[in-house]
Amino acid sequence: MALLTGSNKIKTSVFISGNGSNLKSLIKFSKQRKSPILIQLIITDNLYAKGLNYAKHYKIKKKIIDFKNKNLAEKKIIFELKKNKIDCVCLAGFMRILSKNFIKNFKGKILNIHPSLLPKYKGLNTHQRAINKKEKFSGCTVHFVSSKLDSGKIILQKKVRIKSNDTPKKLAKKILAQEHKLYPKAILKIFNP
Ligand code: GRF
Repeated sequence: MALLTGSNKIKTSVFISGNGSNLKSLIKFSKQRKSPILIQLIITDNLYAKGLNYAKHYKIKKKIIDFKNKNLAEKKIIFELKKNKIDCVCLAGFMRILSKNFIKNFKGKILNIHPSLLPKYKGLNTHQRAINKKEKFSGCTVHFVSSKLDSGKIILQKKVRIKSNDTPKKLAKKILAQEHKLYPKAILKIFNP
């Protein structure tokens, strides 16, 4: 495997809206020698996102973007991505749907992590819906972002068993722990095939 140094790693931006636990795991991964990515920019639509603490802690540049006007917000993000020479975007709990135009305009790769075994349970409340349907398994998926919600090409998935006494909260916790491993694996898979 080629030795990746900071300068030849893929400049990456992570978009978050909330806790940022996937952001944290991606930052930790990006600091490993084997990581093909370098996280250089954190974008959020939420000034109060807890995950912004990681920007401070790890001294990574952050931009808070007001989404009242989505068109304008996306233009600002594209500007920031270009300015920072970002080639890869990782959505990690980013609660906005990016427009076709945004996806077309950004020339790099856009990935997302979703807490279900896609194509099952796109959208929100995945754990509650999987439990209601008495599924035996749920899990998480890393996929490329396309203009349709949670529908782009799947990169990797991890199955998690649903126990009879699992609540949505318990299941979310189990799946989140797997997400933290799956996102780095998916990144390795696409950039170091
Ligand atoms: C994760 O479950 C992710 O799959 C979903 O939103 C949640 C974000 O969690 N898209 P965190 O902010 O990374 O802790």
